[in-house]
Amino acid sequence: MSQPKILLLGPPGAGKGTQSKNIAETYDVDHVTTGDALRANKDMETEHGTPRSFMEAGELVPDPVVNEIVQAALEDADGFVLDGYPRNLSQAEYLDDITDLDLVALLDVDHGELVDRLTGRRVCSECGANYHVEFSPPEEEGVCDECGGELIQRDDDNEETVKERLNVFDENTQPVIDYYDDEGELVRIDGEGTPDEVWADLQAAIEDAV
Ligand code: AP5
Ligand code: MG
Ligand code: ZN
Repeated sequence: MSQPKILLLGPPGAGKGTQSKNIAETYDVDHVTTGDALRANKDMETEHGTPRSFMEAGELVPDPVVNEIVQAALEDADGFVLDGYPRNLSQAEYLDDITDLDLVALLDVDHGELVDRLTGRRVCSECGANYHVEFSPPEEEGVCDECGGELIQRDDDNEETVKERLNVFDENTQPVIDYYDDEGELVRIDGEGTPDEVWADLQAAIEDAV
């Protein structure tokens, strides 16, 4: 069998990055994430401006920029887990044209919890590992368990920008979820348990689908 092609949907902070790491390790597939790709190229000049200005405001980066990133990444991947894309209906249509998916899974988490998850998130400046000051703290405060790198807070993880990201999600990305749901393709995963509980449910859904 070829490697699975999985789309992971969910609001900011739902655990897409956390669970994508599990998927990539367990199924040996690429983790394709527009957020990380854009963060690595924040000051890239495009005809629409740099990604930074959009990201720090919590707004979507223009479609042509992200569509190109995704197309190039999927072309090179055997299997993949796609995280952070599509975020609006036009991106969903673009994706339909370039690939077939084995599973579309939604990590379902209440908005109230998302603000706490995001404002408490810390990421390793060296290897990108994710932590949470309360829910999954590192052994030593401010230091990455995996590589010893410094833990930092993302520019868009302040309360004001988080709220705008949630508004943008409700307005632009919820219709994408409804679209897959109407097609009968959406598998809902309760995203409110511990990371291990969520992973158990998600892995069961993957085993069912592939
Ligand atoms: P992006 O980086 O994709 O951010 P996001 O979708 O807002 O999602 P996050 O990465 O914040 O959350 P996550 O679901 O990955 O959660 P995580 O696992 O880290 O996008 C950033 C920006 O880039 C956008 O605002 C936009 O500007 C731009 N962009 C990206 N893609 C784009 C696109 N396609 N089109 C246009 N613009 C685009 O977990 C969060 C925290 O919770 C962590 O601290 C973690 O430790 C903790 N946690 C995880 N699981 C649990 C659990 N089960 N219980 C308790 N805590 C948990
Ligand atoms: Mg993420
Ligand atoms: Zn690290």
